Amino acid sequence: MKISLSPSPDLLHLYAPPLEALIVVTDVFRASATMLSALYHGALSIRPVATEEEAQSYLDREDYLVAAERDALRCAFAPLGNDPEEYTPQIVQGKHVVLTTTNGTRSIDRALSLGYRRLTVGSFGNISLLAQHILSVDYPEVVVIAAGWKGTLCAEDCLFAAALYERVAHEIALRKEAGEGDALPTSLTYNDALFFPLEAYRTHRADLCNYTSYFEHYRRLERLGRLATIPICLEEDRYPVLPYWQESGVLKPL
Ligand code: MLT
Repeated sequence: MKISLSPSPDLLHLYAPPLEALIVVTDVFRASATMLSALYHGALSIRPVATEEEAQSYLDREDYLVAAERDALRCAFAPLGNDPEEYTPQIVQGKHVVLTTTNGTRSIDRALSLGYRRLTVGSFGNISLLAQHILSVDYPEVVVIAAGWKGTLCAEDCLFAAALYERVAHEIALRKEAGEGDALPTSLTYNDALFFPLEAYRTHRADLCNYTSYFEHYRRLERLGRLATIPICLEEDRYPVLPYWQESGVLKPL
């Protein structure tokens, strides 16, 4: 099995063909955590949409909640934005969430337009569940798309790809020790894009909050007074749920 990092959604066409790969869309700050929080707290589904206009068209529909963010701010027409803590059980239980964000939902749209259908959303909040799923299906390749910022790289997304690789490797080692080696991938490799993020993650994994404070989107969120979200988005297994793409155009828990 190979775990690859696509450092931008705009590079995805260069990666493994749709039938061979599981796509993991990650937007650590904050769209992944928002989607995980909504599903974990009882939303029935998430419909990621590319444009604000499409999101607005759901405003009057019963059982739908509309969430929209641009440039890290809630769009004025939408009752919900892109902060994972907004998605409480009281607000989302039994509802379908329609979501558009600057980069996270754009990455999903990009993967779908290239024909990928085996698609999930991952972040620190569901890392254990995601690693278990990857091993249970034994995909030939897992491609983590770093949603980034408007086509450019975001370091926190690359760090998550490294954390996922480390978690899968650790799980394989544990299972081998327990004598469960037969059902495991014979090898685990990664692409060059993961080389430096892996070094960084291994060095800084104990203090990611501090390490990410050097990153651009951290500072963008700081300027907007949104720093409380950082430890929430970096907390492992805070939202143990695995969103999975459905042909009906939504993500639902697997
Ligand atoms: C996005 O999808 O672009 C991000 O999650 C931005 C944000 O922090 O709201």
